[in-house]
Amino acid sequence: MIFFVILCRFLSFTSQNSAKLMFKSLFYSKLYEWYETNHRVLPWRETEDAYAIWLSEIILQQTRVAQGMEYYMRFVSRWPKVEDLAAAEEAEVLREWQGLGYYSRARNLHKAAQMIVANGERRKANGECIFPQTFEEIRALPGVGEYTAGAISSFAYNLPYPAVDGNVYRVIARLLDIDEAFDTTKGKKLFHSKIEEFLDRDNARLFNSAIMEFGALHCTPVLGDHCESCPIKDFCAGYAHGTAELLPVRKPRPKVRDRWFTYHIYTDGAHTLIQRREAKDIWYHLYEFPCTEEQTDDTYPFTHVLSHQKLHARYMVHKVQKMPEIPGTLVIRWEELNDYALSRLTLRVIDTLQHKV
Ligand code: ADE
Repeated sequence: MIFFVILCRFLSFTSQNSAKLMFKSLFYSKLYEWYETNHRVLPWRETEDAYAIWLSEIILQQTRVAQGMEYYMRFVSRWPKVEDLAAAEEAEVLREWQGLGYYSRARNLHKAAQMIVANGERRKANGECIFPQTFEEIRALPGVGEYTAGAISSFAYNLPYPAVDGNVYRVIARLLDIDEAFDTTKGKKLFHSKIEEFLDRDNARLFNSAIMEFGALHCTPVLGDHCESCPIKDFCAGYAHGTAELLPVRKPRPKVRDRWFTYHIYTDGAHTLIQRREAKDIWYHLYEFPCTEEQTDDTYPFTHVLSHQKLHARYMVHKVQKMPEIPGTLVIRWEELNDYALSRLTLRVIDTLQHKV
């Protein structure tokens, strides 16, 4: 009798499992078929060089593909190997990063390159550095979080780790009709356990690329008529329940802080003054015109929105006979401004200066 119960349990377990497997392989084949026909050809998908993939992933954090592409091409051509990047000055890396924002990414990129090169045990016979090859080592690099480590591990080495970016959260939330916020600790845990179940462990490179691309191009925030032509709609609980477009859910955004800046533009016709930002604040180590900050309700001509701050800016031109000596500032020729990494707001101010200085 006991034997019979065990046998029944075993049969039911294996049939549930094989149903699950069939379900999964049908899901993968639909998703991969869609990917084969629809994916964008992107240079970092044409390589298995972990260094190049790492560069692309750091650049693409908080940056759209169209904008990131230019930067990626410039970085790999200027610094084709991790040794080249490590040997650069931080100021050069920041200058090349100019315009992308979130500059700590560039500082961490540079620091990580130096750490990889400093690790002398990891060299090929010809002396070249070997990029870290395990998830844990990649995750330990500055600037590399859970998503980025999963992306590099799977894209470069086909290791079985998920890469859950915003697009993937959206696809999973809809497929499983999850209305828990995905950006809370509890939500992240839930989503990660679900994606672990979904992951095609033997083909993590293809699976992660396909599900990310599907979220970027088809399962978009505003769906229009995409659900009707969706190749995996038969697997989608959000589609079945009519909730897809309401998902995913986010936690409420923190309040945005307003700040007011005045840039002081000194000029004797040939020179101006700049200073490097040193405070633990936005734009650390970038250059700008000497800046004062004030509290006011006045309307300023420039508005610049960052993730948690709304900046209001104006400038004052101080025409002088002789450049003043102000501690912490540099006197430079106007044409030398191009050599310094400047915040995007400073670049916008410079754009409007023609004929005024
Ligand atoms: N966004 C982040 N990583 C990406 C990748 N590898 N391809 C396309 N978009 C991305």
